[in-house]
Amino acid sequence: MRTKELRIFVYEYSSVSELPEADQKLVLAAREASDRAYAPYSRFNVGAALLLENGEVVTGNNQENAAFPSGLCAERVALFYAQATFPDVAVKAIAVTAYGDRGLVDDSVKPCGSCRQSMVETEIRQKHSIRIILDGKKKIQIFDGIDNLLPFAFKPESLD
Ligand code: THU
Repeated sequence: MRTKELRIFVYEYSSVSELPEADQKLVLAAREASDRAYAPYSRFNVGAALLLENGEVVTGNNQENAAFPSGLCAERVALFYAQATFPDVAVKAIAVTAYGDRGLVDDSVKPCGSCRQSMVETEIRQKHSIRIILDGKKKIQIFDGIDNLLPFAFKPESLD
């Protein structure tokens, strides 16, 4: 038996104004996008904004459906749109935000497992890690690369 210790880095900020300027812009774009979410069932509006390496900002938000599993999370709406529209352009960063009836979430928003898995695929596809910025009222967290959010992920080599 062997015990392994993993090192995961997370950079924490207490407000959006403390962030580097490029990150601030991306968080604000995500917040704007969250206002356009279609979330009548959960009343939980999520927004995502991607910064592409060509400078383009692509946004997405959660799109729900009365048949619940037919909906899609904000992160994947943005990632899939970016990959469908700019297939050869890398995603440098993603900002995610969410608010419910009591406003912006207190703790930083946490992407679901499927969205994390989609970020893994994007990183592998583009051979470049993604800066992940998770917005919240009391705390904003930044992860440099999805390995910090989803260690031991299922990857193409897992199919071998
Ligand atoms: N949601 C997202 O958009 N992203 C996540 O990472 C977690 C959850 C959405 C899905 C659903 O519309 C609502 O939040 C409540 O789960």
